[in-house]
Amino acid sequence: MLEKTVTSTSINSPREQLYQALYQCRLGTLNLFDGMDEVTFCTQFHPDFSPIGWHLGHIALTEAYWLLEYTAGLPPLFPEYKELFRVDGSPKAERGKLPSIAAVRTYLETVREQVWRYLERAPIDQQERLWRFVLQHECQHTETIALGLHLQQQHQRKTSPIFTPVFSATNLSDDMVQISAGAFFQGSDLITALDNEQPRHRVELDTYWIDRYPVTCGQYRQFMEAGGYQNSQWWSAAGWQWLQQASNPHPILKPCYWLGDEQFANYPVCGVSWYEAEAYCNFMGKRLPTEAEWEKAASWVSNTQTQRTYSWGETQPSRSYCNCAIPETFRVRDYQTRTTPVDARPQGASAYGVQDLLGNVWEWTQSRFQGYPGFQAYPYPGYSQTYFDPEHRVLKGGSWATRSWAMRNSFRNWYQPQVRQVLAGFRGARSESQDYQRMTPRQMYLRAKIRGVGLNGLLTN
Ligand code: AVJ
Ligand code: FE
Repeated sequence: MLEKTVTSTSINSPREQLYQALYQCRLGTLNLFDGMDEVTFCTQFHPDFSPIGWHLGHIALTEAYWLLEYTAGLPPLFPEYKELFRVDGSPKAERGKLPSIAAVRTYLETVREQVWRYLERAPIDQQERLWRFVLQHECQHTETIALGLHLQQQHQRKTSPIFTPVFSATNLSDDMVQISAGAFFQGSDLITALDNEQPRHRVELDTYWIDRYPVTCGQYRQFMEAGGYQNSQWWSAAGWQWLQQASNPHPILKPCYWLGDEQFANYPVCGVSWYEAEAYCNFMGKRLPTEAEWEKAASWVSNTQTQRTYSWGETQPSRSYCNCAIPETFRVRDYQTRTTPVDARPQGASAYGVQDLLGNVWEWTQSRFQGYPGFQAYPYPGYSQTYFDPEHRVLKGGSWATRSWAMRNSFRNWYQPQVRQVLAGFRGARSESQDYQRMTPRQMYLRAKIRGVGLNGLLTN
């Protein structure tokens, strides 16, 4: 691994912090490729995603472009890779013709050597935002690499039955937290905040309820057993249409990363499209939270009228607060379960007592991806602005494959509503005015059945 040789900066300077973060992040990126074969590197594992190896080259290209060419004014390194690793270069289906793993690693190392040299002299006080962008860009692509590996290993993982025939209500809880009406601040003006998180702005919300935990496999199983995937009544017209199309030739009957064994009842649902999340919420007499509702529940401290960077406060993310990816130890292999029970980390709770907001699984929100009032594209319109359309939905919170540098309450991710390969689950919400009396007999029955059963003995309400 490349070590920086000269250190002329104090330990806590932004320059030193950047060095540490870039170094640790890269260590984790390379760890993911340890012992990988060339076939895994080049295979396009899903038509919507580029091969794993493409992401590695694209990380190098992006770093070289913004830090060496654009900022330092240096000539391009390996110009022959430009077309291949540009995001608007070759189409995804043609990205399988990659150089060897060793060649791409050499590309990465060559770029990084120059970057270390430039970091010694770069005016960081003027450039920190760009360096932070480059760091988070690598984090986001390594998450896609991780989900690609996870998806490819799925087939090798021992298959569990879709659900056990027993109508199980173990560990179910319909525990919701009430968030009182009032203003909060959405977004962030921190130097780490990406363009779509800025500017921080005041938002007024009515009283609403939000699930204390993400929806678990045990809860979602009820929907599956009640014929949720076979019954159009819970689905929006677009959702039902998607389900019919996506069910050909193989019917969709469960989430993409479904954990069917009883032991996983408290694990979050992972690998659902926005449409599936919407249908489950309809079934439960709830709805998805808006992104503002999610963010207020995560970040706002109403006593002091202040905003938290992370649900638990200002301490950097670690495994004691959330299930995030720690680069030094993070590997995607051995077909492991990567999610953890939704109630495993009470320390990570927000001031409102909402749990498991950061890490574990991304959470779909109702909201379309749009710029905040006063939005300014940075560093280029293609990062966020291109995706401000009526299709993309916002996801919040980060997953087990998200690194700490790209995880915070204000962070926004976005995908189209039919995407179900990302590491996404959701939690339900409802408006104060949304009356449970309006639920169907099926929902009343379910609610009666699950009311008062706490998660691991944590009884609330
Ligand atoms: C925000 C995760 C959807 O990976 O496509 C990476 C982030 N933008 N390079 C993606 C991104 C440019 C983006 N997501
Ligand atoms: Fe990118």
